[in-house]
Amino acid sequence: MRLIVCKNYDEISKKASELVKNIMLENPNPIFGFATGSSPIGMYENLIEMNKKGEIDFSNAVSVNLDEYMDIDEDNPQSYHYFMHDNLFSHINIKKENVHIPSASSDTFEEDIKKYNEVLDSVGTRDVQILGIGRNGHIAFNEPNDKLNLRTNIVDLKKSTIEANSRFFEKEEDVPTKAISMGLEDIFNSKMIILLASGAKKHDAIQNLINSPYLDLQNPSTTLHLHNNFVLIVDEDAYNG
Ligand code: F6R
Repeated sequence: MRLIVCKNYDEISKKASELVKNIMLENPNPIFGFATGSSPIGMYENLIEMNKKGEIDFSNAVSVNLDEYMDIDEDNPQSYHYFMHDNLFSHINIKKENVHIPSASSDTFEEDIKKYNEVLDSVGTRDVQILGIGRNGHIAFNEPNDKLNLRTNIVDLKKSTIEANSRFFEKEEDVPTKAISMGLEDIFNSKMIILLASGAKKHDAIQNLINSPYLDLQNPSTTLHLHNNFVLIVDEDAYNG
């Protein structure tokens, strides 16, 4: 693990976007694993800026996303489809057909899981996987559990995740309780993994991730120690509390 402690959110966003830019300068056909949530928004803003200035080019880029709520319309402003288009894809020159975001409904979830695993298989190894971390240590929507999914599956969101994500909804009852999420094997299928964390609310999860002497399935992020190019970028509040 490579740990980078930055002053604040702007600095973690800058550092992460520089790493992504370097990957793109070396490889004109980059494959990305993207995440939603507050943590990568600043990085996405920087990438948009760089793309507008012509410093980076997404015309041959391919992307896969980590997760999506179950039974949510893609044009619902709370959906991860909407988030990704609003915060990144509609502002850069990535081709629509190269963007992959999972979706699942209660009626077709088995088929939906199979379809997304096929997408992941065809896209193959990512150049970089971007991650955030839940306050409970989840990565994508792989919540603390006795067992962690290796591949895409439907997951029940924990109460703490529903509480944390309720900030985007009118009321907590509106937050979906299930999601489709990439599993650990697919998250790890990337040449580099960058996890971004900011703010004191992430302190416990980050300290547990850094210091755990074993794989702690009650903090799924600890599995990232097994990846040989894992970069953890945190700000001082997330690091020091
Ligand atoms: C998002 C995702 C989640 C978030 C995590 C942190 O696609 O998979 O694991 O990365 O919940 O969210 P934020 O960044 O909003 O604190």
